[in-house]
Amino acid sequence: MNDANSPSHGDHQLTDKGYVPIYTTAVVEQPWERYTATDHEVWATLYARQQELLVGRASDEFLTAQQAMGMSPDRIPRFDDLNPVLRAATGWEIVGVEGLLPELTFFEHLANRRFPVTWWIRTPEQLDYLAEPDLFHDLFGHVPLLMNPVFGDYMAAYGRGGVKAHAIGPEALVNLTRLYWYTVEFGLIRQKDGLRIYGSGIVSSKGESIHCLESDAPNRIGFDLERIMRTRYRIDSYQKTYFVIDSFEQLMDATRPDFTPIYARLASLESIPAGEVLATDTVYHRGTGEGWLNDGDV
Ligand SMILES: [Fe+2]
Repeated sequence: MNDANSPSHGDHQLTDKGYVPIYTTAVVEQPWERYTATDHEVWATLYARQQELLVGRASDEFLTAQQAMGMSPDRIPRFDDLNPVLRAATGWEIVGVEGLLPELTFFEHLANRRFPVTWWIRTPEQLDYLAEPDLFHDLFGHVPLLMNPVFGDYMAAYGRGGVKAHAIGPEALVNLTRLYWYTVEFGLIRQKDGLRIYGSGIVSSKGESIHCLESDAPNRIGFDLERIMRTRYRIDSYQKTYFVIDSFEQLMDATRPDFTPIYARLASLESIPAGEVLATDTVYHRGTGEGWLNDGDV
């Protein structure tokens, strides 16, 4: 991407991706004509690579939704082409943004079934990692599951919960952000034939798509709302623990009640380190911890 296409940002904020720039709050038109041949190549390369990896690893729901959506694999899709499909399925739509939004703005979009998608894509030198979300992470990783009615409802409910938590205070927001992290970004789901991926942070990452299912290092533990809300997470390495849901209905049901009394209860409890396993956990796999950084969890 050349300089003229580079998004501008103002501030930096510590977020779930580390210190990253916070961009303007405005919604922007996707400047599709400005994508270079290199931008389209990056999309096509990442798409093909992940698609191959995700067979037998991504959840049936993700793969079905992805197919129903019909994104072009060989060039960057136009948001305007995807939106009618998405709207007809679940009432969701994509809005273009420069990058990460302030929390409250982000929650308000979700509550109104608008998913903010970063319009710019990483460079060929950043294929394997970049600190902040780009078009590939947002569009390939997050958008397909918005075609799923139950998951779509969960995302909107999360947005409404975010607006509420923002008003309650920073500790409530920390609790809620952990839920997003361990479900929307890094969630696993149990299928008849084994554990599968649905989290966007995983499906958009080559290394973590393999690590989360096949490595002995991380814990794989059954979903438990309050347990997750107490659990710290790593922002600079693969996850030490993945939480496993049985279905999207389970996720929706668990998050239906008002969280206000839960936040009050959790305020007096200690946070749980990212790699810890509790006696009360449903353990699918106890991690060996191989390769973990032991510098305390953020
Ligand atoms: Fe994300």
